[in-house]
Amino acid sequence: MDTFRYRAGKLYCDDLEIDGLISQFGSPLFVYSQNNFVENLEAVRTAFQPIAPMICFSVKSCSNVNLLRLLVEQGAGLDVVSGGELYRALQAGADPSKIVFAGVGKSVEELESAVELDVFLINVESEDELRRLRGIAEKHQKRVKTGIRINPDLVDSTTHAKTATGGRASKFGVPSIHVPVMFEKFRNDRYINLSALHVHLGSPISTETVYVEALRRVYNLIREVQSMGGRLDTLDFGGGFAAHYDRSMPADTLSRASTAITRELEPLRRDGVRFIVEPGRVISANSGILVATVEYIKRGWDKTIVVLDAGMNILIRPTLYGAKHIIWPTCFQNYYGHWQDVENENQRDGSALSGVDVVGPICETGDYFALNRVLPSVKQGQHIAVFSCGAYAMSMASQYNSRPRPAEILVTGSKSAVIRRRESYSDLVALEL
Ligand SMILES: Cc1ncc(COP(=O)(O)O)c(C=O)c1O
Repeated sequence: MDTFRYRAGKLYCDDLEIDGLISQFGSPLFVYSQNNFVENLEAVRTAFQPIAPMICFSVKSCSNVNLLRLLVEQGAGLDVVSGGELYRALQAGADPSKIVFAGVGKSVEELESAVELDVFLINVESEDELRRLRGIAEKHQKRVKTGIRINPDLVDSTTHAKTATGGRASKFGVPSIHVPVMFEKFRNDRYINLSALHVHLGSPISTETVYVEALRRVYNLIREVQSMGGRLDTLDFGGGFAAHYDRSMPADTLSRASTAITRELEPLRRDGVRFIVEPGRVISANSGILVATVEYIKRGWDKTIVVLDAGMNILIRPTLYGAKHIIWPTCFQNYYGHWQDVENENQRDGSALSGVDVVGPICETGDYFALNRVLPSVKQGQHIAVFSCGAYAMSMASQYNSRPRPAEILVTGSKSAVIRRRESYSDLVALEL
C-alpha cells in the first residue's frame, strides 16, 4: 500500500496536497505517511506470522521519536545500535523487554545503560566485547541475556559493498568458526546468559536465496553448539528486506523472503526457539518522501543541471551508495496514479528533458540526487518529490555547509503535524556558544 499518489496531476499524501504542505511548512520538507508506516509494519507481521518473531524496527533507518512511538504503539520492539538510539527508544515509550542492542563498538557506558535497563538482548560482536559485558553484568549482579552476532562469510551479490555486512572482509560479527569456542567458554557463566545468535547480512537484500544459505549455516552452528551442551533459545535473523524503490523490484520480495525464511526456521520453531526480525527500510523507506524546490536550471557543457534547495547533507544515499530514488515534480500534467508509474507516463508524453543532473547546493561534486535522469520540463520554483526517503535520509542527514536540516511532517488523512521543526541558523551554533 502506498498513500503517495497523483490525482489530477498533483501529488498527494493521503488527502493532503504536497504543494499545500510546502506552502505551509516551507522547503525542503520531509513528509511521512502514518498509514504507510502502520500498514508496512502489519505486512511484516503477516509475512512472518508462521514463526511469530518479535519485530524490532531498526531505529537507524528512521529515528524520529514520534515515528518510533507510532510503531511502538502498534506493538513493535526496537533494534538499537547506540546509547543515543537506546535513549530515543525510551523516549518513544519502548518497553526495554522489546529492545535488542547490536553494534560493533559499544562503549562501557552504552553497555552499562543496556544492562541497567534490562533490554531483552545484547548482541555482541567480539570476545572482547563479551568480556566487557561480563564485567558490567557482574558489577550490576545481573545475568544478561546475550547473543553472538555471527559473520557467516556470505555476501549477497546485489547488495552494495558499503552495506554488505556478512562477508569475511567486513568488520561485523564473529567468524562462525569461533562461535562454538565462545559458547564453550561462557556456557555456565554466572553473569552471561549466552543463549542467542544474531545474523544480519546487510541491506537491501532483494533475493531470498542468500537468507536461506545464511540460515542453513546458522542452523548447523546451532546444532554444533547444542551438541556441546550449549543452550540456544533465540535467533535474531536481522533485517535488510528490500523496499520498493522502483518497479524493478518485484512486488512480492518480502513475501518470497519470508516464505523461504519461515520454511528454514520451522524445525527450530518446533524446538521452541524464539525469533527476532529487525526490519528497517521495508517499513520506513516508502513511508516518507523528501520535497525540494528548484532553485536554478542551468546549462552545463553538455547537459542540463537542475539545482535544488536540498542536497547530499539531507539525502546522502545517491552519492554514498549509488542509490536510485524516483524524482519527479509534485505537479505533472493531468496524471492520476501511483508515483512508481509516473516515469513511464512521461515516456508516452515525449516532453522529457534528457540527461538532466539533479543536484543540490552543497559545495561537493558528489552532491547529486541523480545523474543523467529523464525528467519532464521543470521551472524555477517548482517543487520536486524525491521518493522512498523514509529510510536512511533524515536519519543520516547533517548540517554540512551549515545548512539547517528540514522539518519533518506526519500526515494522517487530512491532518498534518510537525514532528520535527525546521532547524534555524541559531541551531547551527547553539552548542558552540
Ligand atoms: C543489525 C542490523 N539490523 C537491521 C538493520 C536494518 O536494515 P534494513 O533497514 O535494510 O532493514 C541494519 C541496517 O544496517 C542492521 O545493521
